[in-house]
Amino acid sequence: MAKEKLAVVGGSRAVPKRMVRQWPPIDDRDQQMVLQSLLDGKHAFGPNCEAFQKEFAAWNGSRFAITTNSGTAALHMCLAASGCGAGDEVIVPAYSWSSSATCVLHHNAIPVFVDIDWDTMNLDADAVEQAITEKTRAIIVVHLHGLPADMETILAIAAKRGLKVIEDACQAHGATFAGRKVGTLGDCGAFSFNQNKCLCAGEGGMFVTDDEQVFRAAQSLWSFGETRTPLEDRDYHAYALGWMYRNSDLPAAFGRAQLQKLDGYLAQQRINAARLTECLADAPGVILPTEPAGRTHCWYNYTIRFEMDALGHSHDASAFRDRLVRAMQAEGVLTEVWQKTILPAMTVFQAKNAYGKGCPWQCPHSRPVEYRRDQYPVAQKHADWHTGMTTPLRSPNGPEVAEATAQAIRKIMENLDQLEGLE
Ligand SMILES: Cc1ncc(COP(=O)(O)O)c(C=O)c1O
Repeated sequence: MAKEKLAVVGGSRAVPKRMVRQWPPIDDRDQQMVLQSLLDGKHAFGPNCEAFQKEFAAWNGSRFAITTNSGTAALHMCLAASGCGAGDEVIVPAYSWSSSATCVLHHNAIPVFVDIDWDTMNLDADAVEQAITEKTRAIIVVHLHGLPADMETILAIAAKRGLKVIEDACQAHGATFAGRKVGTLGDCGAFSFNQNKCLCAGEGGMFVTDDEQVFRAAQSLWSFGETRTPLEDRDYHAYALGWMYRNSDLPAAFGRAQLQKLDGYLAQQRINAARLTECLADAPGVILPTEPAGRTHCWYNYTIRFEMDALGHSHDASAFRDRLVRAMQAEGVLTEVWQKTILPAMTVFQAKNAYGKGCPWQCPHSRPVEYRRDQYPVAQKHADWHTGMTTPLRSPNGPEVAEATAQAIRKIMENLDQLEGLE
């Protein structure tokens, strides 16, 4: 086979310029709904907020939903609503977005990290039990990159040990486990609607639950600790410690417009992911993401790992991965290394500097907890070996983008000698 010159060393790109279209696609309905909200002038407690909650709850199959100004706000509400508080321990996967763990600190509780499972990149359900102590109150499962965690095992452990299960579904809109959508499996869950998510409202989030008591508890910290909205004769009284986590009518209007297209987006994403998997099936040195039986991935992020042992780069995996990523980007592939640092290695946990003066770890209700980086070898290996793709799989991009992306990756992996000497 004739050698192809890689774009990173001056060859031509595998993915033509302007082929990959930006996310999210905006149509007349989005524009009309946002403009109407703007003109109506009911921005706080607006009608789109109310409608968005109802429509999202119906779409997800959840009994209750509360619209928030971020996924992190919804996660913090999950912590409070699950009864977690001072000194309680909450199990969190060692690899996720920072706020999957810092939401625990927000409520004065202590994150305890558990390593991830290599194949699914999710919480290693088999390692959860040994992290449980008499202080453990809840488990946060993150359906990372759109693949549901092993909910069967996790729910069984939680039931046996009397723990709450919080679903961080911020990346997993529409993903299912045993036919049920994420966010309906645990006690409560959180979704994010930020720019890059499968449902984009600009920013924003949603708290969901089926349990009325959990719903009321979450609602009480959502808006200054008040219990009544203007629709319920608001009395401007803080009944509990509250935050300002309400959404505004403008993003809610945008979210409602996008929600009507979400099933179509997810169907397209599935087609694109299947095509990418097909085209990369025998690409040398590439480990493809999996979709275990009984789970549907929503393909929020198509994350690949490079087979560093076989490539002879176990010793300098992250540096070599960075070179591969540069080569992919030069070919026109929109790819990004997501979290390079595993959660327990982040400064907030290493320095235990959350509220200052050792709080909340030195709270008299807490038990000493250690964050040793070497306790999470799988998460570290994943952090060093991976790169991910979101936009190339998103609507309005079709399988042609997946094909060009695969072609770029294959071209690089078949011409690795050209990366030698590259910084
Ligand atoms: C897994 C995960 N959890 C939580 C969040 C927080 O969501 P937000 O940015 O809306 O606060 C994000 C998104 O950034 C996420 O990817």
